[in-house]
Amino acid sequence: MLMVLRDTDGFVSGEKLSKALGVTRAAIWKKVRELRSEGYIIEAAASRGYRLVRAPDLSSEEVISAVQGAFWKDALFYRSLGSTNDFAVEQALDGHLQPGTVIIADMQEKGRGRMGRTWTSPPGVNIYMSLVIKPCVGPRDATLITLLSSLACANAIRRAAGMDVSIKWPNDIMASGKKTGGILTEIKADQDSIALAIIGIGINVNSRVADFPEELRETATSMKIETGREHARSDIVIRILQEFEYLHGELARSGKTSLLSDWRKLCSTLGKRVLVTSGDAAVAGIAEDIDDEGLLLLRLESGGLKKISSGDVTLRS
Ligand code: BTN
Repeated sequence: MLMVLRDTDGFVSGEKLSKALGVTRAAIWKKVRELRSEGYIIEAAASRGYRLVRAPDLSSEEVISAVQGAFWKDALFYRSLGSTNDFAVEQALDGHLQPGTVIIADMQEKGRGRMGRTWTSPPGVNIYMSLVIKPCVGPRDATLITLLSSLACANAIRRAAGMDVSIKWPNDIMASGKKTGGILTEIKADQDSIALAIIGIGINVNSRVADFPEELRETATSMKIETGREHARSDIVIRILQEFEYLHGELARSGKTSLLSDWRKLCSTLGKRVLVTSGDAAVAGIAEDIDDEGLLLLRLESGGLKKISSGDVTLRS
């Protein structure tokens, strides 16, 4: 229906639409209401039919029609959710979401970050989405899912916006030393296999400095702040999903070597003196490498090597 509306300059009659799509006039009207709730502005005139006045810059219709296939099955859009991750976890555990579903929200009331933090999620400007997938790796390699996701996001942003972004271990998307995106992965697994992974992705796309709480203004940025222009959110989402599908396919077909080496190339943490904090504990050293499970290998001042599975990394001078 969107294709017909887009391809037509003026109005398309309800009759023409229902013939073209092989559905009833009532079904056309229902679809118009659905599209309006996603932010499409569609004019309806009794004798003339429907006219697309304006499309939103983020729509699940546009996303799914670009990526639907063997890997991505469905995309659901909500004007507002508490947290896309909470919603996806709840729905997936109840068996209501098939793997390959993407949950997208225009805003979140209780957006969550890593380590119990809040993820600032104002409406109309950014990407908040959760990918529900059945990953090709087992629980031992669960960190690889996060690395793969951060690489997919970084590649997508670089390619879509020509922006120079890097990855701070394990999953922060950085531009000019500030954070422009983050990933929160949650898995449902038993000892041998991961039944489902919920990958929450937050990208600051079009937010302005004033959209960030005061305490984040020194450390957070957005694609718009960095490039000086707005970006269509659907385009970025589509790129992320395409990159994700490609990287996941490569991981399943050829193993993790090339994923780890591509990730290392974009990582801004390796080789640097860092402080890794987790709760009350802090440990300093040089971020030497990641191992083949994606854990950070920290060279301690004592000379020993410590494997770190989670924590916050800050660069030290
Ligand atoms: C981080 O702390 O870096 C992770 C941030 C993850 C934010 C995203 S936004 C979509 C999804 N829903 C949430 O509540 N959190 C993740």
